[in-house]
Amino acid sequence: MSVVDLTRNGDCAVLTLNRPEALNALSFAIIRDIGAAFDEVAEMEGVRALLIIGAGEKSFCAGADIKELRNRPLMDQLRGAELGQSVFARLDTLPVPSVALVNGYAFGGGSELALACTFRLASENAVFGLPEIKLGLIPGYGGTQRLPRLIGEGRALEIIMTGRNVKADEAERIGLVNAVVEGDLMQAGLEFAGKFTRYSLPALGFARSAVQRAADLPLAEGLRVEAELSTLAYRTQDAEEGMAAFEEKRKPEFKDG
Ligand code: HXC
Repeated sequence: MSVVDLTRNGDCAVLTLNRPEALNALSFAIIRDIGAAFDEVAEMEGVRALLIIGAGEKSFCAGADIKELRNRPLMDQLRGAELGQSVFARLDTLPVPSVALVNGYAFGGGSELALACTFRLASENAVFGLPEIKLGLIPGYGGTQRLPRLIGEGRALEIIMTGRNVKADEAERIGLVNAVVEGDLMQAGLEFAGKFTRYSLPALGFARSAVQRAADLPLAEGLRVEAELSTLAYRTQDAEEGMAAFEEKRKPEFKDG
């Protein structure tokens, strides 16, 4: 098994961070491998969602590999942050939605990977945190930008500036995760994905883009984006099929076109 495993479970691709001896910490090589796996997912026939999980019971991902971070030339560090940011941002342009299955620790870059996914599910023992401040650092793979967008500036600043842990129940209460799961997290992830995988991928993609643009745009411009994307969705064959199926009182058969 390599450190990043890409497998298939039904219509879901499953990416497993498989370095449990280091709590699935992210070396730069692993981040590159994650990027390559995302590119592979984009090409996989019949895949309708991506699930990301950490190997072992204890950790989703303990963040950037701290041992590798020391004594690096400044420009290498800048390129490293840019690499992590661009690989994680790739999740926004995948043709399928992504779900982080946070089974244990999600610290630093691990939290940032989960934040970059479309959805997050947590096991009851999940613990989130952006503890970079304790190392004299700050997040570098998108945490300062995505966390406030998800849970608001006040809470994000508190979590980033204290470096404190956020347990699963609090994560759910503040909207950091979509749900906390009792029992088998992978099974729950497959069931969660099953709530949207039967829908048209183009429509799902337009919905994701429109909502994500909301954080960047003034209301009037966001509404224009929505009008345009909803009209694009309207022009798909899937929309024609969906509306026809409603009138004919049958289930639609979407073909992603
Ligand atoms: C490298 C790590 C690691 C990490 C854990 N390990 N986290 N190695 N980088 N981020 C290694 C440990 O060194 C150890 O290996 C093994 O994993 C088990 O970890 P322990 O610490 O023994 O486990 P435990 O006592 O259960 O504590 C778990 C933990 C702790 C609370 C998660 O490991 C921890 O605090 N890790 C660091 C978390 C963190 O600060 N993440 C943010 C990184 S900075 P050995 O071989 O030593 O026994 C970041 C962004 C930086 O993510 C910005 C970049 C641009």
